[in-house]
Amino acid sequence: MKSQLRRITVGLTLGLATAANAIDISWDDDKSVKSAASTIAYGLVKYYTGNNTGDTPGNLPDPYYWWEAGGMFGTLIDYWWLTGDESYNEITSQAMLHQVGEDIDYVPRNQSLTEGNDDQGFWAMAAMSAAEHKYPDPPKDQPQWLALVQAVFNEYASRWDSKHCNGGLRWQIFTWNSGYDYKNSISNGCFFNIAARLARYTGNQTYADWAEKIWDWETEIGLISDKHEVFDGLHFTAGKCPTTNDSTQWSYNTGIFLYGAAAMYNLTESKSWKTRVDGMMDDIKNKFIKNDVIFEQFCEPTKQCDQDQQSFKGYLARWIAATTLVAPYTYETLSEILLSSAKKAATACSGSPASGFAGMTGTACGFSWLGGSFDGLVGVGPQMSALQVVMYTLVKQASAPVTNSTGGTSEGNPGGGKINDGSDDKKFAFADPTMADKAGAGILTCIILGSYVGGIIFMLN
Ligand SMILES: *[C@@H]1O[C@H](CO)[C@@H](O)[C@H](O)[C@H]1NC(C)=O
Ligand SMILES: *[C@@H]1O[C@H](CO)[C@@H](O)[C@H](O)[C@H]1NC(C)=O
Ligand SMILES: *[C@@H]1O[C@H](CO)[C@@H](O)[C@H](O)[C@H]1NC(C)=O
Ligand SMILES: *[C@@H]1O[C@H](CO)[C@@H](O)[C@H](O)[C@H]1NC(C)=O
Ligand SMILES: *[C@@H]1O[C@H](CO)[C@@H](O)[C@H](O)[C@H]1NC(C)=O
Ligand SMILES: *[C@@H]1O[C@H](CO)[C@@H](O)[C@H](O)[C@H]1NC(C)=O
Repeated sequence: MKSQLRRITVGLTLGLATAANAIDISWDDDKSVKSAASTIAYGLVKYYTGNNTGDTPGNLPDPYYWWEAGGMFGTLIDYWWLTGDESYNEITSQAMLHQVGEDIDYVPRNQSLTEGNDDQGFWAMAAMSAAEHKYPDPPKDQPQWLALVQAVFNEYASRWDSKHCNGGLRWQIFTWNSGYDYKNSISNGCFFNIAARLARYTGNQTYADWAEKIWDWETEIGLISDKHEVFDGLHFTAGKCPTTNDSTQWSYNTGIFLYGAAAMYNLTESKSWKTRVDGMMDDIKNKFIKNDVIFEQFCEPTKQCDQDQQSFKGYLARWIAATTLVAPYTYETLSEILLSSAKKAATACSGSPASGFAGMTGTACGFSWLGGSFDGLVGVGPQMSALQVVMYTLVKQASAPVTNSTGGTSEGNPGGGKINDGSDDKKFAFADPTMADKAGAGILTCIILGSYVGGIIFMLN
C-alpha cells in the first residue's frame, strides 16, 4: 500500500443517472445471491486488462497498485469457492502464477522499487485461500499455493527486526523506500494472518509460535490496545521507538487480526484466543458499523478515502466470513453484520456513470453503503468490496477451509523463499535502484483534496 504515493480520484459525481437495473436479490435464495454476485463480478473484472495482448498478467491498470490486484485475485478465488462459477479461474491462475517473481515469493522484480511487506502479503493471502478452498492446483512443474505462502512466511520471519522497537516487521522491505522506518499493523497483520492459517493448515508448531509472537509484539508496543483497537503504525529512529504514532484505525487491520485470532482459536481452542476474537468483534461493532452497516469510519463520512482505502472494508467482510467458519460460535453475530451490510451494498450497486465503469448498465457499485443508494464513486475498490460483502452472505453453506489432514492437496515447501542471513539491509541480491528511480519512487506524497472534480486524477506533491 502506498500512502506515500497516493492518488486520489475524487467524486466521479458528474453525469450520473440512476438506472432501472439495480441489483435485486432474494437473500434467502442462494441462486439469487449467486446471480447478483456474478453481475457484480462481471463489472469488477472489466477493470482488469492484464489478459489483453501485450499487457502483463496480474496487473491492474493505473491508478491501481499491484497489491490491490492481489486483493482482487484473492476475491476471485473466494468467488469461485462460494459460487462455483469458474468464469474467472483462467485469468486468476494465470495472474497468480505470473506474479510469483524470480524467487517464487511474490516479489517480482518489476515491483521491487515500491513493494512493501503488506503488498507481498495480499498475494500470499490469496494463495493461502487457494490452498484452503482447494482452488485447482497449478500444474506440477509450476509453483504451488502452499509453498508460495510458506516462502512469504519465511521471508517475513527473516525480516523480523529485533534491533528496533523490540521486534516487528517494517512496513517496507527495501531500505530505499520511504516507510522503511515505519512499523505498521497491516504488514504485521499479514504476517500474523498467514502464520495462524499456516499453523492451522499444516499443524506445524513453528507457525503457531510466530503467530503468538506477532500478537504479543503488536500488543506490547501498543499497536493493539487493551480494548482491541488496532492502530495503523509507528515511526522509529535508530535510538528511539516510537518517535510518532499513527493511531488511525482502518477496518482491514481489525479484520486481518480477527481472522488470524480465529484460526488460532480453532487450532488451540484456548480461552485466550477466544478472548481476542471476541475483542476484535467488539472493536468491529464499536468502530466500523453504523446503522448495522460496515463503513470505513476514518474517511468515508468525509468522502476522502483514496483508491487503496476504498477497498479496505471489503477485506473486513472477507475475514468476518472466514471467521464464522473456523470459530462457528461467532456466526450468529457476524452473519447479521454481513447480511445487513450486503443488503445496503446491493442497493448501492445501481449506478450508470458516464465513465469509469464497463459492466452492465445500472449495476455499478458505489462506495458508501450507508445511504443505500449509488453515491457515484466507482472503481475497483467499491466494486470489489460490494462483491465481497454480497457473496460472503453465502458462507454458511460453503465448505470450511481445509487443512492438510482434512482434504487439502496443495503441496508445501517449508524451506521456500529467499532467506535473509541476518544482516538487515542487504537481503536482496539485485542492484540498488538509480538515483532517478529513487526520486521517482519517493517523490509523491498525499494531499487530500478539498474539492470535487469529476473523473480527474490528481497527483500533488
Ligand atoms: C480476459 O478475460 C475476460 C474474463 O474472463 C474475458 O472476457 C476476455 O475475453 C479476456 N480477454 C482476452 C484478450 O483474452
Ligand atoms: C515485468 O515487466 C515486463 C515488461 O513490461 C513484462 O513483460 C513482464 O511480464 C513483467 N513481469 C511481471 C512478473 O510482472
Ligand atoms: C501436514 O503438514 C505437516 C507439516 O508440514 C506434515 O508434518 C504432515 O505430514 C502433513 N500431513 C499430511 C496428512 O500431509
Ligand atoms: C505511541 O504509542 C505508545 C503506545 O500507546 C505510547 O506508549 C507512546 O507514548 C506513543 N508515542 C508517541 C510519540 O505518541
Ligand atoms: C474449527 O473449524 C472447523 C471447520 O474447519 C469447525 O468445524 C470447528 O467447529 C472449529 N473449532 C472450533 C473450536 O470452533
Ligand atoms: C515447520 O516450519 C518450520 C519453519 O518454516 C520449518 O523449518 C520446519 O521444517 C517445518 N516442519 C515440518 C515438519 O514441516
